[in-house]
Amino acid sequence: MNLAFWKKKEHTAGQVDFQRLPRHIAVILDGNGRWAQRRGLPRTAGHKAGAETFRAIATYCRDIGLEYLTVYAFSTENWKRPKDEVETIMVLLKRYLLEAIDTMERDNVRLRFLGDMQALSQELRDLVEQCNAISDRLTGCQCNICINYGGRAEIAQGARRFAEDCAAGVVKPDDLTEETFEKYLYSAGMPSPELLIRPGGEQRLSNFLLWQCAYAEFYFTDVLWPDFSKEELHRAIAAYQRRNRRFGGVG
Ligand code: IPE
Ligand code: IPE
Ligand code: MG
Repeated sequence: MNLAFWKKKEHTAGQVDFQRLPRHIAVILDGNGRWAQRRGLPRTAGHKAGAETFRAIATYCRDIGLEYLTVYAFSTENWKRPKDEVETIMVLLKRYLLEAIDTMERDNVRLRFLGDMQALSQELRDLVEQCNAISDRLTGCQCNICINYGGRAEIAQGARRFAEDCAAGVVKPDDLTEETFEKYLYSAGMPSPELLIRPGGEQRLSNFLLWQCAYAEFYFTDVLWPDFSKEELHRAIAAYQRRNRRFGGVG
């Protein structure tokens, strides 16, 4: 095959039909640490760069009219990391929240924080509350940032809250269906992601959206999250649009 053929193929590989976008894209923000290490920088520099990339991708998703973007920023397992790395991530989160409170109205990007916020400092929790309150007034793309999030923890807390409602006589065990249970998840009221993107080269879920990704299309790329670009997003969406989604049927 000649070069022009492959060039065209490469071009069409990233061609997106913007009329057929998924409603909800989920992204595991992975590869920050390696991005920094490859540049001889501390891992925390990678988290800083990763936060910038998130800002750019979130506004781009708003521009193309995506309804929901859910990103995995800090897992229930990430507390295992060295204390100074965790502390820096929390400092970056605080900076991010403060900046978001100033700019989200102008940018019309709604921010929601999914996960167990109890483990965060009171200061961070207050900022999260402020972001939520501003988001209530906005209409743009909803960006869910998963912090101290774990898929198993999410399902367990949902089961616990359902059991509490049963004990209080609000619901009965027979009321539990897939639809009613979803109301007990952090993602209550949102459609499930059709597309899950994992940059950073690993091909696993790492405890992300276990319930919601039951029928998501997975897209893995070696690109490290801080290097992720809108072209890379296009490639992922274009790949998704070429998939044959059967949902157990025959297509
Ligand atoms: C993802 O990047 C960000 C968090 C988990 C907080 P990593 O820090 O996992 O980066 P790598 O995988 O070590 O490169
Ligand atoms: C998943 O990345 C969690 C986030 C990106 C927040 P990790 O880097 O923690 O996952 P593993 O350790 O490679 O599975
Ligand atoms: Mg990682």
